[in-house]
Amino acid sequence: MHGFKAELIRRTLRRGELATALRIGLRALRSRTWHTKRLTFCLNARELPPHTPLAPPDFDVQSFSHWSAIEPPLQELLAARLATFAADAQQLLADGAALWVGRLAERPCGFGVSRTGPHVREYFFPLTPRCALLSHFETLRAYRGRGLYGALLTNMMHTLAQTGAERFYIDCGDWNAASARGILKTGFRCIGHGILRHNGRLVWVQETPPCAAAAPTETVRQP
Ligand SMILES: CC(C)(COP(=O)(O)OP(=O)(O)OC[C@H]1O[C@@H](n2cnc3c(N)ncnc32)[C@H](O)[C@@H]1OP(=O)(O)O)[C@@H](O)C(=O)NCCC(=O)NCCS
Repeated sequence: MHGFKAELIRRTLRRGELATALRIGLRALRSRTWHTKRLTFCLNARELPPHTPLAPPDFDVQSFSHWSAIEPPLQELLAARLATFAADAQQLLADGAALWVGRLAERPCGFGVSRTGPHVREYFFPLTPRCALLSHFETLRAYRGRGLYGALLTNMMHTLAQTGAERFYIDCGDWNAASARGILKTGFRCIGHGILRHNGRLVWVQETPPCAAAAPTETVRQP
């Protein structure tokens, strides 16, 4: 993720947006040295966008609940990429998460994690069994900028909705303009932000109730 912050700043500078690049840099520095601010988004299952406009025709998604069901080269890729989030792929599965892999023309192009409420140890607010927290997303570098984040998210949420999920939550660092844009394009609305202090304390600042998350709001300031 540290490499990605630098990449995002370079991309923003290349577009000539100096003030935005500076803001991303300062927020990234704040998250390393002081506290992390996570913009938190919600989408209700009944407001889910349809699959088709977002996904390219050769895009497919597979989910895994057991490490042994994943073929070894993919295990290696997932373990390595999730380690960049300081996460252990096998432990996530052992704790009840599902791992999702997006493939384009059969090649892995991105991944993410979902956990229903009872499998989330600690969050900014309590999550019920009908809530799913989506996290640990990455689109592999060669595939970025093609809307595959949204395609993966949408596919996952449709599948999870079929098994009873009614509300989805996702968050990203306030410096992460790329992630925030991908999340918003998928139909999520920002409902507030969580602060993760370096002493481990979590603080939740709600701006919109989750049940109103489908109503258009402009609560997200682009970094
Ligand atoms: C954030 C991330 C998942 C977005 O994936 P993606 O498939 O590129 O998503 P999209 O194609 O919808 O693009 C989303 C935004 O990313 C930015 N973007 C576009 N191309 C990009 C590229 N090559 N590299 C970085 N960011 C890019 C743009 O701001 C884009 O929004 P726009 O199209 O409205 O301008 C991806 O950049 C990534 O894996 N980043 C590293 C890990 C990470 O930040 N994960 C999210 C943790 S909360």
